[in-house]
Amino acid sequence: MEAKEPIIISGKEEMRKWSRSLRAQGKSIGFVPTMGYLHEGHLSLIRESQKHAEVIVVSIYLNPGQFSPNEDLSTYPSDFLGDIQKLKSIPGGVDVVFHPHNLYDYGDGDRSKRNEKEMGRREGNVVSCVEAGGAGHQTWVRVEGLEKGLCGKNRPIFFRGVATIVTKLFNIVEPDVAVFGKKDYQQWRIIERMVRDLDFGIKVIGAEVMREDDGIAMSSRNVRLSPDERKQAVSISRALSEAKVAAEKGQVNCCKDLRNSVSKTIEEAGGRIDYAEIVDQESLEPAEVIERPVVFCVAAWFGKVRLIDNMEIKINA
Ligand code: PAF
Repeated sequence: MEAKEPIIISGKEEMRKWSRSLRAQGKSIGFVPTMGYLHEGHLSLIRESQKHAEVIVVSIYLNPGQFSPNEDLSTYPSDFLGDIQKLKSIPGGVDVVFHPHNLYDYGDGDRSKRNEKEMGRREGNVVSCVEAGGAGHQTWVRVEGLEKGLCGKNRPIFFRGVATIVTKLFNIVEPDVAVFGKKDYQQWRIIERMVRDLDFGIKVIGAEVMREDDGIAMSSRNVRLSPDERKQAVSISRALSEAKVAAEKGQVNCCKDLRNSVSKTIEEAGGRIDYAEIVDQESLEPAEVIERPVVFCVAAWFGKVRLIDNMEIKINA
């Protein structure tokens, strides 16, 4: 099959026009938002979207609003041309890559400029999607309960940045279906809830976590691990699958015991725990005992790289 060359669109009006003309032709639109540096995990989201829609839009937008000043945007990997090649390799391909350069004006110019500077450094000629000399944006989207725990504890502005930019992307791309990876479990649940609460007419699908052969969850951040850290990081998925088996077999049902054993395994391997929590799959409220479907979520540092992973724990009814 011949590789499909995606159309690359950077302007929001052009993007909206394309979507509306495809919808007028009766086509359903699938959407996969990404921050680029695509890997097999992203490609699996695109394959999932192809099952639900006739035309596919992938966005590549490194969103400064979800990085706090101490989390350096400039170390986030990017490879736009490599990304396009990967997209072309997928059977059926994608129709559009939406690649805006600046979607949010922070008013003080600081972070917007940081993004334009960063993109300019990486890609040369940058056309901004925010009006020059505009008054700045003031609107944020927050999903107040779900954003508080897990990653939200140590990254207080992260989900505000995600929910706001995903809202903008939804309003520009106007998809019928959007696919998010369950690897970012809290993000998936937040977007699902936001879509429900704000009546977006979009179906949100959560796609399973993709893993390397040794079990590590696929992530754009894995390339930043040293060879030693890469070996140590396998402890996360190993510890989680041991806990999952023990809980599902009914051998351990105390969440504190499960949390302690997972933390110990990761720390002994050389990781530093940010959190290891067992929470309800929908409310993300902490659980004490395994008596309903829960998800075990972990964030841990290996050197300067923070990784997240999770496994759902099912119970026999
Ligand atoms: O998961 C990501 O890559 C990002 O958080 C997203 C959803 C593209 C929003 O910037």
